[in-house]
Amino acid sequence: MGTIAAPVQLTEAELKLLQTLVYQECGMFFDERRSHFLKDRLQRRLKVCQLDSFYALALLLENLTVNETSFFRNRPQLDLLQKSVLEEILRRKQERRDFHLRVWSAGCSAGQEPYSVAILICDALAYYYLRNPLPFEMPSPKPLIPPPWKLEIVASDISYASLRTGQEGQYTDLQMEPVDYTCRLRYFEKVNGKYAVKQQLKDLVQFDFHNLKTEFLPRRNDIILCRNVMIYFDEAEQKRLIEKFWHCLNPGGYLFVGHAESLFGLTQKFKMVHENNGTAYQRVENRV
Ligand SMILES: C[S@@+](CC[C@H](N)C(=O)[O-])C[C@H]1O[C@@H](n2cnc3c(N)ncnc32)[C@H](O)[C@@H]1O
Repeated sequence: MGTIAAPVQLTEAELKLLQTLVYQECGMFFDERRSHFLKDRLQRRLKVCQLDSFYALALLLENLTVNETSFFRNRPQLDLLQKSVLEEILRRKQERRDFHLRVWSAGCSAGQEPYSVAILICDALAYYYLRNPLPFEMPSPKPLIPPPWKLEIVASDISYASLRTGQEGQYTDLQMEPVDYTCRLRYFEKVNGKYAVKQQLKDLVQFDFHNLKTEFLPRRNDIILCRNVMIYFDEAEQKRLIEKFWHCLNPGGYLFVGHAESLFGLTQKFKMVHENNGTAYQRVENRV
C-alpha cells in the first residue's frame, strides 16, 4: 500500500518571505487572520511545481517576475520612434489641429522605458516646434512641451514594487550608464547620491496598475510600447493581447514590441515598419 507523503512544513521565515513577495508583486497582504489562505495556496503550488521546500518556491517566484529593463533599451527601435514615427504622427496631428499626444508603456517595469520615451519625445517635439512654430505664447519658465502640444504617458505594470520605483524616479550610477551626460544634465538632478528624474519630466508620466490579461486597458493611444512582456505569454494570450492593443490605439497608431518578439503569424491587423534595424507595427484600419 502506498504511503501518503506528509505536507512540507512551512517555517515562519519562509512564510514571511513569501508574504513579502506576494505583497511586493501583487499588492495583496495576507495578515495573520488570512495567512491560512496563503498557506493553503502555497501548499498546492508546491505540489504542482514538485518542489521540496517553500524556500525553493520563493526563489522560483522571484525568477518568474522578470523585471529586467534599462534606459534607452534597443536604441535602433527608439531612433525609429523618435525620428520617423513621431515626425509622421506630429505632422498628421497638426494638420487636424489635434495637439494631444498619448503614449502607453505597457509592462514598464521600474520606469526606465517610459522616462526614456518621455525624454526622446520632449527633444523631438522641441525640434519639431523649431521647424513648425505655432502662434501660442510661450510661458516662462519654458515648459518641456511647447504649447499647445500636450504629452501624456501612461506607464503600467502588474508589479507594485516596480511601479513604486518608477514613481520615485531615482536611479543608481549603474542604472544610469546608458544615459549620456547632456541628457543627465537636462532631465536629472542628484539627490542622496542617486540620479532623480526632474519634476517637469516626472509630471509627464503617470504610473498605474494594469494587468494586460484583463479587458480594461488604456485607450486612445498614438503609440504603445509593450516590449519584452509578451514573451512570457502563450500564443493564444499573445493573440488576445495584440487584438486589445489594436483597439487601444488611435487609427494609424504604432505598436513597439521587444527585439525577440514579433507579430508575424499572429495578426493581419498591423503592418510592419522596418528602418535601420528598428522595427515597429502600424495599426491597419478595417476594410469595409
Ligand atoms: C522584462 S520587463 C520589460 C520592461 C520594459 N518593457 C523593457 O523592455 O525594458 C517585463 C515587465 O512586464 C511586467 N508584466 C508581466 N506580466 C504582466 C501582465 N500580465 N500585465 C502587466 N505587466 C506585466 C513585469 O512585471 C515586468 O515589469
